[in-house]
Amino acid sequence: MDLIFPDRIALAQRPTVLQPLPRLSKRYGKKISLWRDDLTGWEFSGNKIRKLEYLCAEAARHGADHLVTCGGPQSNHARATAFAARRLGWDITVVVREPPEGLHHNAPASGNLLLNQLLGANFLYVPYDDYQAGGGVYEPFLEKAARELTAVGARPYIIPEGGSCPTGCWGYLDATRELLSESNGETLDLFCAIGSGGTFAGLELGRELLDAPFRLHGVNICDSAGYFEQRIQGLLADTNTRYADHGVDYIQESLNIHDGFVGSGYAVASDDDLRFYGEIAREEGILLDPVYTGKAFRGMLALISEQPGEFSENIVFLHSGGQLATFAYTDQYSRILKDA
Ligand SMILES: Cc1ncc(COP(=O)(O)O)c(C=O)c1O
Repeated sequence: MDLIFPDRIALAQRPTVLQPLPRLSKRYGKKISLWRDDLTGWEFSGNKIRKLEYLCAEAARHGADHLVTCGGPQSNHARATAFAARRLGWDITVVVREPPEGLHHNAPASGNLLLNQLLGANFLYVPYDDYQAGGGVYEPFLEKAARELTAVGARPYIIPEGGSCPTGCWGYLDATRELLSESNGETLDLFCAIGSGGTFAGLELGRELLDAPFRLHGVNICDSAGYFEQRIQGLLADTNTRYADHGVDYIQESLNIHDGFVGSGYAVASDDDLRFYGEIAREEGILLDPVYTGKAFRGMLALISEQPGEFSENIVFLHSGGQLATFAYTDQYSRILKDA
């Protein structure tokens, strides 16, 4: 059965281009290109907007007028969802998981939290201990928020963490078609960062169901490869079940997830990491973000220099955006730049 793509609301600017990185290509002896999904053109929404195109279409089908989503205070996904909601004339509620040390609610907000305030989002703050006591997942809090909204006459639609659910997977399944055309169907190794798994899962579905000639590699920037292998296999199986009538029949394969590049933890960048992003900026005129693409890109270069024979001559790295987070590292960057 041919694939039947569900409805989507066009929000992203596409196709995004493949940009060659000539100096890094020379240094690593491979043709390395950047897939510029940081330029999807939607208020810096990077990879998130591709998932949201499908999720918002589903929300509209359900008659929603209010999106409910979640993330940490600096979640790119929550901010992208808030922009999408406002673009469509809807309201937005964000369930914010507070960090272990708590959030200072009277302190000025910055970064994505500030942007969510600017957009007039409603917030449901969940203290870290309550989140853990709820099983370490967002679902109970998302459902509570949706129940409360329904009780006051709103029509909420829940978008889970990172938009990484079967409907969100269509974003990168769809993007695979663009990659095939942009790369002229060349054989390649494609790398991406893994944060909640939906981008990788969508590309994996695209690879298999569209018979795309690439090998997919994910670099986890939190948790572990084992955790994501399980989580993403679960997501792929759910997508099979949910979209069997759309021609999705993914046959399970083991996934290439490369561990070892998380560093000291999610969103923690070492001085050495930040120096590396500075070097890449000077060498190629591109900006990697300190939470996702920076760690994954660095991981990719380490892998191809350690085992060049394991990878094809064409390497593509998905730049999934997130550069606004740079400004959350201003003090650390300033210190490093002063010492340089
Ligand atoms: C900039 C950026 N890149 C990559 C990712 C990872 O994508 P995913 O959550 O689909 O694994 C995220 C979000 O988690 C992100 O904000």
